[in-house]
Amino acid sequence: MTERKSFGSDNHAGAHEAVLRMMARANAGDAAAYGADPWTQQAAAEIGALFGARGGVFLVFTGTAANVLGISLLLRPYEAVICPESAHLNTDECGAAERVLGAKLLTVPTPDGKLTPALIAGRLRDRGDVHRVQPRVVAISQVTEYGTCYTLAELHALGEFCGSEGLRLYADGARLANATARLGCPVADIVAPMDVLSFGGTKNGAVGAEAVVVMAEDLMTGVSFQRKQQMQLASKMRYLAAQFLGLLEDRLWLRNAAHANLMAQRLADGLRGVPGVELWQPVESNAVFASLRPAHIEALQREWDFYVWDEQAHVVRWMTAFDTTESDVDAFAAAVRETAANGL
Ligand SMILES: Cc1ncc(COP(=O)(O)O)c(C=O)c1O
Repeated sequence: MTERKSFGSDNHAGAHEAVLRMMARANAGDAAAYGADPWTQQAAAEIGALFGARGGVFLVFTGTAANVLGISLLLRPYEAVICPESAHLNTDECGAAERVLGAKLLTVPTPDGKLTPALIAGRLRDRGDVHRVQPRVVAISQVTEYGTCYTLAELHALGEFCGSEGLRLYADGARLANATARLGCPVADIVAPMDVLSFGGTKNGAVGAEAVVVMAEDLMTGVSFQRKQQMQLASKMRYLAAQFLGLLEDRLWLRNAAHANLMAQRLADGLRGVPGVELWQPVESNAVFASLRPAHIEALQREWDFYVWDEQAHVVRWMTAFDTTESDVDAFAAAVRETAANGL
């Protein structure tokens, strides 16, 4: 256990006490297994209603599993996934999609982690050529791997483009809560253009639970079988469901994310004008990406926990979580200021 608050990841935070309380409540007595329990039914119904899903909601253990399951609903064996080069799916999931789905990822370099219709169009040139894999799914992340957030207009443009090109739109929503807090609109508006998406709990106060939300009714055939085959059908599903019920109660999911976002903004504000510290991406969620001098990074890392995102460009990622406090942020910002002279 670290004494100082970690700025390494929102995964470093513990679970919210409301989530743990709900798990304890779900622990009373016996319940039907494999999702046939009232907790799971309630969580699925509440998430489905919140998102305006015409399909269904399927709980899984991890974000990687959610991405694999979600995309597996959209692909035929010769079809491929277009995604940003920086996508977690591409960089940090140990090739799960390639291994488990056998699907090729067609990656696109992006300056800000976002795909656009023009960037996707550049990957569609070989359609119809029998020698080439056929692009079928566009996979975005909301928020992106760089902490940036698609606007509603950008999402709708992607949805329209995908519709007109016969492509399916998948979203990795490991931090969808942070995007919802950022955009300040109903989550249903954000997810309306998507065919399937994940909805993250783990980074936002859950112990470990993610949901796959199937927006379109015509994609429901076989989801239950796919989840089982992909080893994500929890026998004691009620505990995954209880985590979501804890987050859904009184909109804790949104309040947690809004707080984490606010703390990232406070950090960015606190660092304005510090010599040698430049924001590398706009702060639109709970991550601050900044470039620093190497000696400055080294000095800070002696005392504080965070990741160097890009060794060559000396970019670091500082993440906040639902339980990051103002004094955590202020102490860290003070340390960044105090160590700024290092390496001058
Ligand atoms: C955007 C995004 N998607 C998916 C994942 C994968 O989640 P997990 O580590 O639970 O498999 C992560 C984890 O960091 C993530 O940041």
